[in-house]
Amino acid sequence: MRYGYFDDQHHEYVITQPDTPLPWINYLGSEAYFGIVSNTAGGYSFYRDARLRRITRYRYNNVSLDCGGRYIYVRDNDTGEFWSPSWQPTRHELEGYTCRHGLGYTVIGSTYKGIEAQTRYFVPLGESLEIWQLTLTNQREESANLSVFSSIEFCLWDAQDDATNFQRNFSTGEVEVEDGVIYHKTEYRERRNHFAFFACSEELAGFDTQRDVFLGPYRGWDNPVAVERGRSFNSVARGWAPMGSHHVRVTLKPGETRQVIFLLGYHENPRDQKFDPPGSQRINKQTVKPVIGKYLNKDNVDAAFEALCAYWDRLLGIFEVETPDVHTDRMVNIWNPYQCMVTFNLSRSASLFESGIGRGVGFRDSNQDLLGFVHMVPERARERILDLAATQLETGGAYHQYQPLTKRGNDEIGSSFNDDPLWLILSVAAYLKETGDWSILDELVVYENQPGTEKPLYEHLQRSLRYTLDRLGPHGLPLIGRADWNDCLNLNTFSEVPGESFQTITGKNGKVAESVFIAGLFVLAAEEMASMARERGLTDEAQLYHDEAATMEVTVLKHGWDGEWFLRAYDYLSRKVGSHECDEGQIFIEPQGFCILAGIGLCDGQAEEALAAVKERLATPHGIILQQPAYSQYYLHLGEISSYPPGYKENAGIFCHTNPWIMIAEAIIGHGDQAHDYYLRINPSAREAISEVHRCEPYVYAQMIAGRDAPTHGEAKNSWLTGTAAWNYVAITQWILGIRPTYAGLQIAPVIPSDWSEFKATRVFRGVTYHIIVKRAGKGNTVSLTVDGKEITGNVVPVFGDGKTHQIEIIIGEEVQEL
Ligand code: BGC
Ligand code: NOJ
Repeated sequence: MRYGYFDDQHHEYVITQPDTPLPWINYLGSEAYFGIVSNTAGGYSFYRDARLRRITRYRYNNVSLDCGGRYIYVRDNDTGEFWSPSWQPTRHELEGYTCRHGLGYTVIGSTYKGIEAQTRYFVPLGESLEIWQLTLTNQREESANLSVFSSIEFCLWDAQDDATNFQRNFSTGEVEVEDGVIYHKTEYRERRNHFAFFACSEELAGFDTQRDVFLGPYRGWDNPVAVERGRSFNSVARGWAPMGSHHVRVTLKPGETRQVIFLLGYHENPRDQKFDPPGSQRINKQTVKPVIGKYLNKDNVDAAFEALCAYWDRLLGIFEVETPDVHTDRMVNIWNPYQCMVTFNLSRSASLFESGIGRGVGFRDSNQDLLGFVHMVPERARERILDLAATQLETGGAYHQYQPLTKRGNDEIGSSFNDDPLWLILSVAAYLKETGDWSILDELVVYENQPGTEKPLYEHLQRSLRYTLDRLGPHGLPLIGRADWNDCLNLNTFSEVPGESFQTITGKNGKVAESVFIAGLFVLAAEEMASMARERGLTDEAQLYHDEAATMEVTVLKHGWDGEWFLRAYDYLSRKVGSHECDEGQIFIEPQGFCILAGIGLCDGQAEEALAAVKERLATPHGIILQQPAYSQYYLHLGEISSYPPGYKENAGIFCHTNPWIMIAEAIIGHGDQAHDYYLRINPSAREAISEVHRCEPYVYAQMIAGRDAPTHGEAKNSWLTGTAAWNYVAITQWILGIRPTYAGLQIAPVIPSDWSEFKATRVFRGVTYHIIVKRAGKGNTVSLTVDGKEITGNVVPVFGDGKTHQIEIIIGEEVQEL
């Protein structure tokens, strides 16, 4: 069952029924000011850091669902009836309800008793504010005498403190109202130099800033007393819960349309110019007023919206495809890159499954996210790499997370996730291949944010590799530390205390438990380092890295091969994890994917065998399961993985992040049909038709789909902020469609389904536009390539550096070869 449809031409998903199985959200903002907006206008906003600079309040996991948002009420002053054009919070039966989630904007509208109301929400580029552009149209035969009320609830900045520290917070809230603009200034009198503002383009009939006055005692957002009686109270918040609401009266003749613009924003003043007049406690509004003035003007708002659309058109134009499959096209051309940008901006902080309070920017996560957005915003990727490297420790280890405001490592979580440092090598390699900007390797970067410890980025990478080699276990495989990519495989934790964090407690010394996954990742990273060194003319060093990789590969094949698939790990007592000898958890997906990605087992058939085992034991119609059989009980020596009920999350859920590794592995051994088949199983657009089962948004990937051991097999959770976005993008664009940046140029090595006779792509790479057409002549994956009509050898289009457009034609031949 569907709850809407894709409007590909406008890059929108159009929701036509407000009561979707879960709130289906979108994100506003692209740089510093961000917001979540659901299909019924729920959500909240923040500046840079969802925990420390929360602008509006939201009640997670609330009853009723999706509580708190950017709500507008329309009231018919002749009858006294009022409703929400976005359905929530009054939930009237509306005509023609639609929510259009687009790239960086959302438009929600409906008609009620002849009054059409549509609101466009977006954040202009370069600004720290959001615009709500409300268009009202009177479709009645007679005049309409209406009132419009806006409403938001301010958060007292630190979202954690705001939700808990009531003894203080009920006394600190402060606002100012000046010229119809509501300013939220809690704690401005002391250490904050920032405030929020909420403005309206029309003359006000009134306003409210004290929530409980606006709502009335014991009432909810569905029935505010101010709206019911049709008049604001002009309340001024002193403590309790500051909010913002404007009241505007609008009279519309039959057929008449009017716009009302609301602005919600964040502003900072220099510390020594906070007050006006100096010495008073009033906000200095000199620098914010021009910004407010600009965006209360409709023409400026329309121009800002056009600029936002142009920004997205430019980003999406960098890679576009036309294939025989609509789900591939839609995801590759629109939604997957969009989701990659959102994961870049938000990391894992704020979604309906991440409260914005708990998680900073993950080291491992961000390095992987980068693989999906580096081609769109290379300058920002560069900055992100340098930020991440600056949190690295001198040992080569890494803080698992850092806070976006301070960019400092998060002490509460610490380090010792032994895979972390290696991901930095993958992201830097991806950056170099995309941009050719070798200067990044010479950038001086501190360790642990300590001035005086600067070393070239290249040395950070060397230390990342060394970090693994300094920590090998009894079989010569890398020690796992707190966990590897699978945060829940906690082989040294041994936690018996309820509520203890599995990831931060160290139960055992960690000198025994080893990870085959890290071994695979190490081989891949060491080979990347070898290529990097070779490119820089460091031949001996390149050989050294290659030798280290080769040694590890031998170790994996000796101690990490279980007979039919790759083993997952050795536990604290050196017992096998992920082996046919185990009662449960016999086969895990991660080492199958990553070892093959690293090229292990390609020569002697282990890769084929491992993938056959994946197909037989882990593949389901809803995607590939993380491990089987599921753990049926809690195992002290395995940790969090066995804490989940069977079929969920890391305990045999379909952890979508890992599926593209298998797609890539299948592509590497030349199985285009299988690779694309796996791709479609978790492709959100392909799952749209079963939205009542999938339940999450059909336009973005979710982290997890319940596995076959779960009673809700096929149900997705944790949509939006997941490494699934970047890796699926890499799998489909670079390995199945096969268009891959390399140091030497753009490689084109498609491994596509056998029934595709042709596809086209446009790729902007190092300033050059390539129009690519791939035609199938034979059943294989070997290619012959012509550039501007001239045949060239191999499958790499050289870097032209001429800023022009080139035509590339690829003919796929009969033979199959491993990549
Ligand atoms: C989740 C993991 C996540 C980890 C880190 C666990 O509870 O299941 O998916 O990576 O927490 O916070
Ligand atoms: C989500 C985390 O953000 C990621 O870092 C981890 O690799 C996966 N869960 C698997 O545990």
